Amino acid sequence: MNKTPDKQPGDPNTTGHTWDGIEEFDNPMPRWWLWTFYATIVWGVIYTIMYPAWPLVQSATAGVMGWSSREEVQKELVAFEEANAPWNAKLVETPLQDISGDPELQQYAVNAGSAVFRTWCAQCHGSGAQGAPGFPNLLDDAWLWGGTLEDIETTVSYGIRSEESDDTRWSEMPAFGEILEKEEITQVVQYVMSLTNAQTDEAAAQAGKVVFEDNCSACHGENGQGDVFQGAPNLTDAIWLYGGSEEALTETVTYSRFGVMPPWDTRLTEAQIRAVTAYVHQLGGGQ
Ligand code: HEC
Ligand code: HEC
Repeated sequence: MNKTPDKQPGDPNTTGHTWDGIEEFDNPMPRWWLWTFYATIVWGVIYTIMYPAWPLVQSATAGVMGWSSREEVQKELVAFEEANAPWNAKLVETPLQDISGDPELQQYAVNAGSAVFRTWCAQCHGSGAQGAPGFPNLLDDAWLWGGTLEDIETTVSYGIRSEESDDTRWSEMPAFGEILEKEEITQVVQYVMSLTNAQTDEAAAQAGKVVFEDNCSACHGENGQGDVFQGAPNLTDAIWLYGGSEEALTETVTYSRFGVMPPWDTRLTEAQIRAVTAYVHQLGGGQ
């Protein structure tokens, strides 16, 4: 233990702790610091009384101001809707094909439609509307059910092969595994492949042409160019919803496909449907 020098008059107070001759001062806290500290305590107590604060089992104390972040969001949403109301009204009143003639309205429709798309459509059609196997690409000009504004609006409103809507678009390709011989399926698949110049067995494709005329052309057209009234895809454009390999085509023809899209007229407002219609239409493939 080192010797501590004796205390002189006027020396600051110490706590009496020493270590290696170093002593600890016992100075009072600065006034300003102390009062700030008390003020934060008082402020903290008042805050927990005024605002939601103390956790309870299921919720938290509500606070006497009745403030809630949910209500704030709600208010913002209402304000937002009020601001958009005139635009939405205009969107509903304007005939679909006249929307793009009004640049401001078109801009509003595309922005609003893009938000609708990201929320409701992207999980199936992809965030950039590029599609995925079974879910059509909406960027190109190959349309199953038509690419005019009216066509798109109808598709979006009532869906496709959906049991949820009486007005849904409907068609059903038969499963030819139950109708044709295996060999005929092989032949017609070769014929379908020949339509897009894929490598094929010439003789089989020739025989497949006859199978096609007898069984497929009613829906897919004489030359396989498709039919938008029945949602029957064009088989000559090398754009495949379910794949264009021999395997994928054999599976499609044997078991058929049954793409379903839900209707949106029950979930979205008319303005939202028209906005997303305008959005999809201007993506590149709109007719
Ligand atoms: C649950 C998945 C799903 C969701 C969600 C969905 N779709 Fe679809 N959509 C499909 C499928 C599957 C098809 C193709 C159906 C078929 O085979 O005919 C389709 C087809 C379409 C078509 C017709 C394309 C064409 O070539 O004619 C349009 C347009 C379309 N969807 C737009 C939308 C929009 C806009 C939304 C959002 C409001 C949306 N879809 C949400 C699954 C979906
Ligand atoms: C009753 C009408 C109908 C008949 C008959 C029919 N199809 Fe289809 N076909 C469709 C429809 C509708 C689809 C789209 C199904 C879907 O999107 O789920 C389709 C889809 C296809 C596809 C998938 C195309 C793609 O892009 O992936 C192929 C391939 C095809 N049909 C070939 C045939 C062949 C070959 C025959 C004759 C053996 C045939 N179809 C007969 C209506 C028909």
